[in-house]
Amino acid sequence: MPDTKEINEITKDKNQGDVGSRELRNELHRLQEDFHVDEKKLREISEHFQEELEEGLQDHGKNIAMYVTWVLGFPTGKEEGSFLTVDLGGTNIRVCYVSLQGSHKDIGIKQHQYKLPENIKTAEASELWTFVAESLQKFIEEQNLRGSKESPLCLGFTFSYPAIQGCIDHGVLQTWTKGFNISGVEGKDVASQLRSTISKLDLPIELIAVINDTTGAMIASAYKDPATIIGAIFGTGCNAAYMDKISNIRKLKDSKAVKNLSPDTPMAINCEYGAFDNARRVLPLTKYDKQIDEESPRPGEQAFEKMSAGLYLGEIYRLIILDLHSRGVAFKEQNIGKLRDPYCIDTAFLSKIEDDDSPDLHESAQTFRQNFDVEMTRDELRFSKHVAKVIAIRGARLCATGVAAICRKQGINKGHVAADGSVANKHPKFKKRWARALGDILGWEKGVADGEDAPIVIISAADGSGVGAAVISAMAMERESRGEKARIKER
Ligand code: BGC
Repeated sequence: MPDTKEINEITKDKNQGDVGSRELRNELHRLQEDFHVDEKKLREISEHFQEELEEGLQDHGKNIAMYVTWVLGFPTGKEEGSFLTVDLGGTNIRVCYVSLQGSHKDIGIKQHQYKLPENIKTAEASELWTFVAESLQKFIEEQNLRGSKESPLCLGFTFSYPAIQGCIDHGVLQTWTKGFNISGVEGKDVASQLRSTISKLDLPIELIAVINDTTGAMIASAYKDPATIIGAIFGTGCNAAYMDKISNIRKLKDSKAVKNLSPDTPMAINCEYGAFDNARRVLPLTKYDKQIDEESPRPGEQAFEKMSAGLYLGEIYRLIILDLHSRGVAFKEQNIGKLRDPYCIDTAFLSKIEDDDSPDLHESAQTFRQNFDVEMTRDELRFSKHVAKVIAIRGARLCATGVAAICRKQGINKGHVAADGSVANKHPKFKKRWARALGDILGWEKGVADGEDAPIVIISAADGSGVGAAVISAMAMERESRGEKARIKER
């Protein structure tokens, strides 16, 4: 059983006595109040979340889109075959060659990451797809992989942005998220754009499936672990996927695409819940959240993601420092020029500051000095540590509201949430804070969330973009070999 101090730390950073200056203490107090999400508020957010999940299943074009992915059920663990996979991340693209041996234990992976060019986030479609196709080309040459027109290498493409899928090898991008702003892709089928660039380079590759990272995480995990209930990403962006019955997806009731499927057929749903509460009815927005939104390439969108995902946690922190500097409350004597660069602080930096237990916080002092040429006073260092904690606690607690809403909607009360992403992996305290908030919303008895046998636990997703994309491609090909239509197969 954790002691009271630890519980307070998980839910709210209450200790501010070590900050000497009164002005800074007052600021800290204000921030702690603004960023605190108490149990009642958590429940209110999660209830509204559940309503928006339901609405997304009811009709097309709702706030939380609830995209059908055409992944029809969990894998058996016996899927087999070798697949090329590519994952377009925020800073790298990762290409893998995954061999599934037909037994959930044996998986072979060869992989390589290629760094995306600096300016790609604001480039044009052709530059993006050329870079992706050329990376695939390099990889197959380096790995000496052979394919031909008759027997091409099968490709699973992880594209982790909101895309409407008419079938598994198709995905029309609705809007860029996570700071991407590449022209000529929104409203277009990304599979078809990649396919035509692959064919321009005359590569022996056939695109089999387009998947979201959340679906990949869920399926990769389920390939080995039947207790998997949800795939969730707590990273640069945030989102989750789960399995629902076709009969629950009421917006499909007149769709020809499902008329041959039984109403009980499971369908993986990519929720795209970063867009939760875009109408801003329940989220407790601070002035910093509003500023991030206004200055982003897509104001008004991804309200929930902008408060809880890794891309934005460091940015909230940076805006707080700039705010205090401009009001002359703190960092007065500092040259904070380098901190004026948007998005220059990442999640790893934030967790380093929060976890610094060195005497006089000299490690943080060095981190600030090395990264930003800033010489913080001892008081400013203490203040900064508290602020890092306050932002991270709120992020973790908000992240629990989405998963809790899925569990309540589905009546799920135990299982594994396969999670991936920089916040889940690089922020050591995230999982504990998330679990406590989940327990608060789902009404677990005190202490349960902190124990080994909490009913719903986060586990690390086993390589969603590699294994997940391969397993999903194998499942689609198996359906076809049974005579079902899985793909459009446009060439
Ligand atoms: C995207 C989702 C993705 C999530 C996590 C969001 O910004 O819209 O498709 O799953 O980030 O990567």
